[in-house]
Amino acid sequence: MTEYIDLINRKLKESLPSGEYREQVLLDAMDYSLSLPGKRVRPCLTLAFCELCGGEAEKALPFACAVEMIHTYSLIHDDLPCMDNDDFRRGKPSNHKVYGEDFALLAGDALQSAAYGLMLCDDTVNAVGAERAARAAYVLSQKSGTLGMVGGQVIDLQSEGQSVGIDVLREMDEKKTAALIEAACMMGCIAAGASEEQIKAAEQYAYYIGVAFQIVDDILDVTSTTEELGKAVGSDKLNEKSTYVSLLGIDKCRELAQEYTDKAIAALSAFDENTAKLKDFAYKLRDRKK
Ligand code: IPE
Ligand code: IPE
Ligand code: MG
Ligand code: MG
Ligand code: MG
Repeated sequence: MTEYIDLINRKLKESLPSGEYREQVLLDAMDYSLSLPGKRVRPCLTLAFCELCGGEAEKALPFACAVEMIHTYSLIHDDLPCMDNDDFRRGKPSNHKVYGEDFALLAGDALQSAAYGLMLCDDTVNAVGAERAARAAYVLSQKSGTLGMVGGQVIDLQSEGQSVGIDVLREMDEKKTAALIEAACMMGCIAAGASEEQIKAAEQYAYYIGVAFQIVDDILDVTSTTEELGKAVGSDKLNEKSTYVSLLGIDKCRELAQEYTDKAIAALSAFDENTAKLKDFAYKLRDRKK
């Protein structure tokens, strides 16, 4: 999947307004977090699913960058003192440590608007057609919003210092993390003009790798180092977060990550061929160290 990263980074860079503006600090704050070396998991998935469904990766690029913008905004806000209060992200000081809480908040807001602008601008509509662009944007709005990522973040905050059950944790991870990964995969299919069955299968695959992704994130918060991860470790304990790790322990979490990865791979059987890359990617995410 690394073959997509240069393409994604180039498009992200050119998607922000260039030139001199009175609100330059906002553009600098947006560019700061977007340019840092995130793993680009979500946009790579968008491009891979577009190709899997017979489309050209290039056509899905605006949707890939849109989901990365939404993800980056979620990280900027997630790190704010009123949320997880974390000082490091992607190997550098968090956005609010550099630009202040006010501009970090606004950089997140503006990244969200920029994501929709990118998906619905003339160039994108001309490339994929208004219907596909609208559907993809709608999917992202649902998966990132009230009952998606933002809703999951609410459950996360409400669960701090509480003893919550496994059903609450599952719903939290489905929403705060899997939902955006689902949008990423579905938008790749939509850009390619895939069938409803393929879109559904992509959503399923994404659901399982998405929940596994958060379980691994929670494991790494306990087992990794700040240097390797590029973000603070021990943050969950400090914030008294409810996680699968705090409820079940690390060994059980590794088993669960395996189980979800297997289920993700099973969902790929709905596609005829060429699924080796996505299968391999699911294993890579399970085994990731950062
Ligand atoms: C971190 O996401 C937040 C979670 C949903 C666990 P990533 O691990 O994909 O972060 P980046 O994009 O590589 O920085
Ligand atoms: C991430 O959960 C969920 C988001 C929507 C950003 P975390 O709070 O565990 O993510 P990290 O560990 O700070 O990246
Ligand atoms: Mg958080
Ligand atoms: Mg956090
Ligand atoms: Mg975490």
